Amino acid sequence: MTADSEGKALDSSDSFVLVQDVSREYSQGGQKQLVLDNACFSLRKGETTALLGRSGCGKSTLLNLLSGIDHLTSGSIIINGVSLGSLGEKARTRFRRRHIGFIYQFFNLVPGLTALENVALMAELNGSAVGESMNRAAHFLSLLGLSDKADSFPEQLSGGEQQRVAIARALVHAPDLVLADEPTGNLDARSGEEVMQLFSSHLKQQGTTTLIVTHSLAVAKTADRILTLENGTIEERWGEFAW
Ligand SMILES: Nc1ncnc2c1ncn2[C@@H]1O[C@H](COP(=O)(O)OP(=O)(O)O)[C@@H](O)[C@H]1O
Ligand SMILES: [Mg+2]
Repeated sequence: MTADSEGKALDSSDSFVLVQDVSREYSQGGQKQLVLDNACFSLRKGETTALLGRSGCGKSTLLNLLSGIDHLTSGSIIINGVSLGSLGEKARTRFRRRHIGFIYQFFNLVPGLTALENVALMAELNGSAVGESMNRAAHFLSLLGLSDKADSFPEQLSGGEQQRVAIARALVHAPDLVLADEPTGNLDARSGEEVMQLFSSHLKQQGTTTLIVTHSLAVAKTADRILTLENGTIEERWGEFAW
């Protein structure tokens, strides 16, 4: 049991992430759109969960709320016993950097930094000294089979290589929670499979809790659980995908 910001007891037993009645409404040009409508789910520690849903249904919105980049309209998100809503802007940024690794669909590498520097930057932002950050970055690049590309700039790398750098960057600070937004969405099937294999085996070994947004059934198959997002709400799928 843990307590939220108001001291209310929560049964978080083995749940690492608790999403309770989360709604997110966007207003644009006087029009309101309810993208998430009292969504509820939890993620157990160490589990990999795939999130499926059609384009535009709110998957990225949900990941941005979980990482504290975006704000809820109502509800609560509790990660490792901490209610994100109870943290101020600075504390939330620190919490995100420390506990969360985020992988974007379009890699989001810094163009002026080499592969090694892109990865080391995340370790440095978490307080590691420059030398140690470089060592950790080199280790993770090697884990992802990219030692020979350490000094290349993003534009000199293929899509699959850029995504592997982005994965190394998301893992270098040993986050407790990894959020991946269609990590193979811009890769051909073979690169996607290679990237997922490296990614999943490392996360399993480390016992990292992972939520992967994907359109790929091959990726969903590697997950322990499948959730779907439809009409703003989350449902758990059991046995509907026969494999
Ligand atoms: N910042 C924003 N302002 C207004 N509407 C947004 C914003 N971000 C997303 N939306 C809208 O919310 C819906 C869900 O978007 P998104 O979460 O990106 O979907 P998905 O990732 O599932 O494709 C879409 O209709 C999108 O247009
Ligand atoms: Mg999206």
